[in-house]
Amino acid sequence: MRLRTARLDDVPALARLERDCFGDQAWSEAVVQAELADVPGIRYVVIAAEGDSLVGYGVLTVASETADIQRVAVAAGCRRRGTGRRLLAELLHEASRRGCSTVLLELAADNVAARALYAAAGLSTVTARQDYYGPGRDAVVMSRSLDGGTAGSE
Ligand SMILES: CC(C)(COP(=O)(O)OP(=O)(O)OC[C@H]1O[C@@H](n2cnc3c(N)ncnc32)[C@H](O)[C@@H]1OP(=O)(O)O)[C@@H](O)C(=O)NCCC(=O)NCCS
Repeated sequence: MRLRTARLDDVPALARLERDCFGDQAWSEAVVQAELADVPGIRYVVIAAEGDSLVGYGVLTVASETADIQRVAVAAGCRRRGTGRRLLAELLHEASRRGCSTVLLELAADNVAARALYAAAGLSTVTARQDYYGPGRDAVVMSRSLDGGTAGSE
């Protein structure tokens, strides 16, 4: 598996992976294309590829000193092999490279896998948002400081 930056011709495969990983919460192909249009500007999109196949990706948005992790996703058949960890480490490094002091992200409170992934990389829960995704579907916000240049060294 290797990491590389995303290209515009990745849009169809990225949109497929979005649907597989996020179902009715998935970004449409148009939204994926718009995200890529903001690269490098305020956005960074990294792809995990195996041969010609896209097996995962990560999306970071940088606004001032805070970077938002928008996505870390790995194809269902390729999980628990360290790909999510590598994608996340790369996003943290990129946030540091861009001079950010903090990373933030928001995710469903019941997303056990992602919460464990982020906690293992040093992010901690700073607040919860009740019913954020609809009745009974809470969100949590996780954060980590990047000061000290330790991003991705989990
Ligand atoms: C969350 C996700 C990206 C993890 O990807 P992955 O490639 O399977 O993760 P890794 O193999 O790198 O796992 C790294 C660590 O995360 C934690 N983790 C990952 N999946 C887990 C699971 N199902 N249950 C508990 N912990 C898990 C573990 O601590 C793991 O380390 P370990 O394997 O040494 O125990 C993947 O499950 C996914 O794509 N989920 C759907 C999309 C999503 O919800 N993304 C997050 C919100 S944007």
